[in-house]
Amino acid sequence: MEVVLNGKTIEAPEDFTILDLAKREGIKIPTLCHDEELKPYGSCWVCAVKVEGRRGFVTSCGTKLTPGM
Ligand code: FES
Repeated sequence: MEVVLNGKTIEAPEDFTILDLAKREGIKIPTLCHDEELKPYGSCWVCAVKVEGRRGFVTSCGTKLTPGM
């Protein structure tokens, strides 16, 4: 699926989170409670990012990509 990250259109796998894509693209998003071996917990909000068209912030570790995001 196609998404836009920091103004750049990128092809991304369906099961990726925002954090997964940022990592793959070499963009560092700080995390605290995230552990790749565990399901997303989403409690610390250190990884919060802004998604165009949504109010407030979302956790990049727990937010799956959607087409056109
Ligand atoms: S790293 Fe804690 S909510 Fe994402």
